[in-house]
Amino acid sequence: MNETTNSNQEPSHSSTPEEISRRTFFTKLSIACGGLCTLIMAVPIVGFVVAPLFRKVPDKWIPVGKVDDFEIGKTVDVQISDPSPLPWAGITSKSAAWLRRESANEFIAFSVNCTHMGCPVRWLADAELFMCPCHGGVYYKDGAVAAGPPPQPLFRFAVRVVDGIVQIRSAPVPITTTL
Ligand code: FES
Repeated sequence: MNETTNSNQEPSHSSTPEEISRRTFFTKLSIACGGLCTLIMAVPIVGFVVAPLFRKVPDKWIPVGKVDDFEIGKTVDVQISDPSPLPWAGITSKSAAWLRRESANEFIAFSVNCTHMGCPVRWLADAELFMCPCHGGVYYKDGAVAAGPPPQPLFRFAVRVVDGIVQIRSAPVPITTTL
């Protein structure tokens, strides 16, 4: 019979009660430090996600152009900015609206954001429809849902004309995730 011995095998070593309690202490300390680090990182992330729900959009009228810049019956996109952007919003604070001049002094403005998941809708002048490329949402020219998953008509901004200038009132745009 051929017996082999493992010369690399370390002699068995049983821990003393002091070593066990030190190990337990460091294990608990590691868990506590890990938990603290997670908490420190989680607070600003949760704040970033939740803060917009509590942020009040100021009631502000945004000028988008002179009345005569717009042709009666035409739907065009106009640039609008978030009136209270977060400091780090950058280019994402810029948005747009679809504006149509209905008559000499009457305008309608729709949000460009689909009420399903917020994708920007396009205006197809020939078909007189708003189309959302994301999931095939379709809206009639008055913003009513024609087809697809959007749960609500396109959001309408209030519009007014002051001293020959068309103004759109800022407002939070409802989409499925905020309904
Ligand atoms: Fe427009 Fe889904 S985001 S249909």
